[in-house]
Amino acid sequence: MFYSLVKPLLFAIDPEQAHDISLEMLQQFHRLIPDRRIDKPTRVMGLDFPNPVGLAAGLDKNADYLDGLGRLGFGFIEVGSVTPKPQPGNPQPRVFRLAKHQSLINRMGFNNKGVDYLVERVNGKQRDFVLGINIGKNLSTPVDQALSDYCLGFERVYLSADYIAINISSPNTPGLRDLQREDALESLLAGIGQLRLELEDRHQLFRPLALKLSPDLDQQAVPVIADLLRKHKVDALIATNTTLSRDGVKDHRLSAETGGLSGAALRERSRQLLSDFYSELGEDIPIISVGGIDSAAEASIRFELGAKLVQLYTGLIYRGPGLVNAVTRSLSSQTSNTETDR
Ligand SMILES: Cc1cc2nc3c(=O)[nH]c(=O)nc-3n(C[C@H](O)[C@H](O)[C@H](O)COP(=O)(O)O)c2cc1C
Repeated sequence: MFYSLVKPLLFAIDPEQAHDISLEMLQQFHRLIPDRRIDKPTRVMGLDFPNPVGLAAGLDKNADYLDGLGRLGFGFIEVGSVTPKPQPGNPQPRVFRLAKHQSLINRMGFNNKGVDYLVERVNGKQRDFVLGINIGKNLSTPVDQALSDYCLGFERVYLSADYIAINISSPNTPGLRDLQREDALESLLAGIGQLRLELEDRHQLFRPLALKLSPDLDQQAVPVIADLLRKHKVDALIATNTTLSRDGVKDHRLSAETGGLSGAALRERSRQLLSDFYSELGEDIPIISVGGIDSAAEASIRFELGAKLVQLYTGLIYRGPGLVNAVTRSLSSQTSNTETDR
């Protein structure tokens, strides 16, 4: 209701500015927002999620807005992507609305305040949702040395995250997606796996690891990646990041902007990759589905296709924050009548 009033104002200004203003307002006034999360508990990756609806990475890159976002009803929030050192990202403008397609193109380029800042924001924060921290590599780090950035980030966030997501699928850091190729992925997962064992031993604490993939993977890559995920004991797959494809939006004047496409135009691809991976992985490794989910019906389809959790981003921009409770309410009424409305 409130969002339908402010949306025209927000859509009248630059998308990144609108994003910053909305988040600042949400954070400033979070105490005025009634805490009405709808619980639908689920256990995934060994973690207890209050409900299976999460915020996708990239909206709160530095964990600056957790109090406000925590009021919207999410069962989990993934902050980041964060890199070892702070970096400014690409020059603005770098986010574009394709409103008639309910989609966005972004080329943010991992603008963030660095992992130390994020860890400080997160530590000691009271929260009642699962927290994922999504890590990436700095632009200045050559792709063949990416492992050192991921290891640095992994170690730094180890004690602060409930799960750690490795992002090798942003289209806005040159060469990053090459890390999804078999040899590169093998050495990345082996290197992180080694560090993980050391950290588990040192802290006597297990942290689930999720890998976030691109929707632009070849179908032949799916079984190869699935084998590597099993071999290296990855705990979840996040499918998907944004696409470089412009299928379905070519008629839009902004479709030629460089960057990753998200929202409704990504929906088909995201569903497809979920199905492809689910047929390879079955129940072995849980899949977090993301990409073009903007209704309870679409979230249900993802669960039917095998997802264990879903994440939202672009749908929130077009439908507003009420989308979170709309999805959880529908999920909880479908399969049980024991949910608690807090
Ligand atoms: C402006 C913007 C910034 C994003 N930044 C990140 C990021 O830093 N790390 C990441 O893993 N994904 C990032 N994403 C991708 C989203 O997490 C999500 O995977 C993608 O947008 C598809 O979901 P959607 O269609 O619901 O938006 C970003 C997306 C957008 C629109």
